[in-house]
Amino acid sequence: MSVESPTPRGTFIVFEGGDGSGKSTQVERLASRLHALRTREPGGTPISDQIRALVLDPAHPELSNRTEALLMAAARAQHVDERIEPALASGTTVVCDRYVASSLAYQGVGRGLGVEVVRELNQFATSGLVPDLTIFLDADPAAARDRLGESLDRIEDAGAELGERVVDTYRMLASAEPDRWVVIDANGTIDEVAARVDAAIAERLGL
Ligand code: TYD
Repeated sequence: MSVESPTPRGTFIVFEGGDGSGKSTQVERLASRLHALRTREPGGTPISDQIRALVLDPAHPELSNRTEALLMAAARAQHVDERIEPALASGTTVVCDRYVASSLAYQGVGRGLGVEVVRELNQFATSGLVPDLTIFLDADPAAARDRLGESLDRIEDAGAELGERVVDTYRMLASAEPDRWVVIDANGTIDEVAARVDAAIAERLGL
């Protein structure tokens, strides 16, 4: 009788950073190098993409902060169930552009809802799925904002002050969980930052 060994779980890697930190480029590079599933939040499934369109639409300044947090969490719940968890279970590495920490930073601190209540909401939304490693691309918020250009979404539009609070929150979250986070200096060329990311992935995950 042959006993099949279970498929080893995939590794779950998340990138976080303020708006304009060059995160999406680094996500793309790492995912293609690791032959990983590349995905992003809010979004990643048809339902989550519809929620994304609603929550980022600048035409809705009246969207309340609690609604914003709930919509981010709802998009995430669907993304975890439909895409992230099945990929990990089948042994695929997942590289995701933003995850729960974005809600802690933008809704918890940026919008002032409180980190703990947003953490609890997301515990429910994700059934407790946490990344193996979160890479925080730490860029100077003012320089990052200059890179954003003209067309801002509803959250980017909330201004520079939110941007600084977001970056401070990431620094705080990274220092609270040094085993699960790595902070990368995101100032420099795309290649320089990518080399730092690759070194961190090799050191922390052996990938
Ligand atoms: P996006 O265009 O994907 O920006 P970026 O390239 O900076 O990731 O827009 C996502 C926006 O949504 C961004 O401003 C951060 C915000 N956001 C939250 O406020 N909470 C969340 O939980 C997530 C996932 C994103």
